[in-house]
Amino acid sequence: MKAITIPEPGEADALVLDDVPDPEPGPGEVRIRVCAAGVNRADVQQRKGFYPPPPGASEYPGLEVSGTVDAVGEDVTQWVVGDEVCALLSGGGYAELVCVPAGQVLPVPSGVPLEDAAALPEVVCTVWSNVFMTANLLPGQTVLVHGGSSGIGTMAIQLAREVGARVAVTAGTAEKLEACRALGAEVLVNYREQDFVEQVRAATGGAGADVVLDNMGAKYLARNVEVLAVNGRLVVIGLQGGRTAELDLATLLSKRAAVIATSLRARPAAEKATIVAAVREHVWPLLESGRVVPVIQGRHPLADAAVAHREMEASGHVGKILLTL
Ligand SMILES: NC(=O)c1ccc[n+]([C@@H]2O[C@H](COP(=O)([O-])OP(=O)(O)OC[C@H]3O[C@@H](n4cnc5c(N)ncnc54)[C@H](OP(=O)(O)O)[C@@H]3O)[C@@H](O)[C@H]2O)c1
Repeated sequence: MKAITIPEPGEADALVLDDVPDPEPGPGEVRIRVCAAGVNRADVQQRKGFYPPPPGASEYPGLEVSGTVDAVGEDVTQWVVGDEVCALLSGGGYAELVCVPAGQVLPVPSGVPLEDAAALPEVVCTVWSNVFMTANLLPGQTVLVHGGSSGIGTMAIQLAREVGARVAVTAGTAEKLEACRALGAEVLVNYREQDFVEQVRAATGGAGADVVLDNMGAKYLARNVEVLAVNGRLVVIGLQGGRTAELDLATLLSKRAAVIATSLRARPAAEKATIVAAVREHVWPLLESGRVVPVIQGRHPLADAAVAHREMEASGHVGKILLTL
């Protein structure tokens, strides 16, 4: 089969379209003939050599795909050849074929085109597991989503809006903030011109955010703790602003607040299956009713993976970028 490989880490041209052996499904696995693969910030980090695949995962990049079940391994009862699906992967999605544990596979939501479904698994599972299962965002509470126009952000805004939470976002341009507003964000902060702590406090009568979903890590740690409300929960899912920073425990203690950091990719298959099952129960009906939609900026053929990576690094996009086969 054809797959994108990374013979040497580096810039976007490090992505090479190669002929590689077809993967064979092991017990409990499904093999998918890929229709489209989502591009994630993590793939860029992997390409640069900063985010190696976890043990046992495919060496090729790609954390989510949509496609058609092409073969099933022993003990797989819930999927049959020909099913149209999308799946959460530990790697290997930039390829014609990929194998994945059956518990990480989801049906394509009715009404969503097969290709577009590739934009869903990674962002929906990341947002649902962090904002709802871990940080327990409740109706009427306020969530601050950093990078509101990102793939993750565009899904976080919609899901928080659907549970009846109030959404604040940061983004770097007025156009991106407008896209966030159209998806349901009410408090819009241009992080290049405004202080998100001041803006979120002003919008919440001084209370702050009950939940913060953070992609920046070290650079925002102090201000994220500052912006938290009493009993607030900060969930760090990205380290775009570095990994090491000082934490004022007195502020945390006086607010009875929590700082949590998580990674989806490294979780054991059983934990991923639990998240996938929760997403199917809680988010799939919202997608099938059309209330929540995948936000897709652009599509490129698999052979142009380097173009897609450059587009992501230029950060002009709103939502997801897909590779199509
Ligand atoms: N831990 C996990 O399990 C997990 C899973 C999936 C994703 N993630 C993380 O989630 C983040 C988003 O991923 P993605 O694939 O959706 O990437 P993406 O679409 O490329 O988004 C990156 C975002 O970062 C924003 N950003 C850059 N500098 C910023 C700043 N100073 N303040 C606020 N936002 C800033 C960009 O906004 P502008 O363009 O407006 O600057 C852009 O929206 C990444 O950090 C990724 O690593 C984590």
